[in-house]
Amino acid sequence: MKISQHLQNYISADELIAETERAKSFLPELAADPMAGWLDLPENYSREEFSAVTQAAEQIRFDSQYLVCIGIGGSYLGARAIIEALSDGWRPEGDPHGVALARHGGGEADRTRQTKVLYAGNALSPIELRRLLSELGDADFSINTISKSGTTLEPAVAFRIFKQKLVEKYGETEAAKRIYATTDAAKGALHDEAVAKGYTTFVVPDNIGGRYSVLTPVGLLPIAVAGIDIDSLMSGAAEEKSAGPNSAATYAAARNLLLAKGYNIEVLATFEPSLIYFNEWWKQLFGESEGKDGKGIFPASVIYTTDLHSLGQFLQDGRRALQETVVRFTTPTSDVPVPTVSDSTDGLDYLEGKKLSYINDQALTATIEAHLAGGVPVTALELPDLSAKSLGALIYFFELSCALSAKLLGVNPFDQPGVEMYKTNMFRLLGAREG
Ligand code: PA5
Repeated sequence: MKISQHLQNYISADELIAETERAKSFLPELAADPMAGWLDLPENYSREEFSAVTQAAEQIRFDSQYLVCIGIGGSYLGARAIIEALSDGWRPEGDPHGVALARHGGGEADRTRQTKVLYAGNALSPIELRRLLSELGDADFSINTISKSGTTLEPAVAFRIFKQKLVEKYGETEAAKRIYATTDAAKGALHDEAVAKGYTTFVVPDNIGGRYSVLTPVGLLPIAVAGIDIDSLMSGAAEEKSAGPNSAATYAAARNLLLAKGYNIEVLATFEPSLIYFNEWWKQLFGESEGKDGKGIFPASVIYTTDLHSLGQFLQDGRRALQETVVRFTTPTSDVPVPTVSDSTDGLDYLEGKKLSYINDQALTATIEAHLAGGVPVTALELPDLSAKSLGALIYFFELSCALSAKLLGVNPFDQPGVEMYKTNMFRLLGAREG
């Protein structure tokens, strides 16, 4: 990961070197942690399961106009982050987005069909649920229900509703063939039902928690269904892993040093609106991993230039507690020039013929300059392009930085005890049976 830190007014080079070394000293402890299965995943994933995921994705792309992806938190945000980032718009020549569709056991591929992924079970809103059901209409669909515990209320309720629709449409036997359950290998209500009904199942590994699971079948199946090249995603993560932990450790070190100096909010900024769910994934990763024991950096996010016209005022000029991390892509994967017109009155002649990607990148440089001048410490992370490979690298970089950062902070990166209290209260109010 190419990382440029503009932190000289805030932390000294010596402080940063020492804290980076301290971050790296946690690597052996991290590697020994029973929840650090994601650490070696880009190299040591099951090729057999990966190929089963690819086959299931092909089947779904063949027989379904929609995949209803049911899950919440770490069981959905990673997939949505990648799909929303890469699904729309222009693709460069040779991009695997339009992967060939093949029927199991052969048969003619239909290259024109795209399967749209819908996301359910990430809220309890009846309005949202109605909207999803209405979009689904009478279209052919399959379900990927994802829950490590197999008991989370939001996805369980949504699964019951969409399963009923599936059974009404196809009957019990065919419906069971259209349900793909991603859950624990041996236990939980979803696991038990999947075994009893014969659903196709994929495993959430025991040693990987939800928010670190995007590169397991939790994320890979819906991502592959969306037509995104999961081999590239994994190879980007593998490249980042083999580059070593330096940049992740430096980033983790810097954000903690800044925290100690009162910069207790970190804003992740991107100039690509399609990364809005990547920002959500990042917020969950850092928020749930670090926000405990009365500690942590509050993770916030913005999409520029949009938010420069709303939160930009606060970023530039408000209470100085913000550190900012900007994600930049150096090579555009899409472009549009500003048209030349003969009788313009809009004062944009100086931009005629210039590409939007160039203008967007100048806005990025201008924003970094402005925020530095306004007293915001800024780190820039540079990736070659907005592609599956780059996002794979970014995922791995953030996962490693997050775990190291939590270690520096002195908290457990892999638990989330704080999410239980609302559940306990909600189950009491709803009259749920104990156990
Ligand atoms: O990161 C986490 O552990 C959480 O966000 C979980 O993924 C989320 O609560 C969903 O849990 P489950 O997969 O057990 O349904």
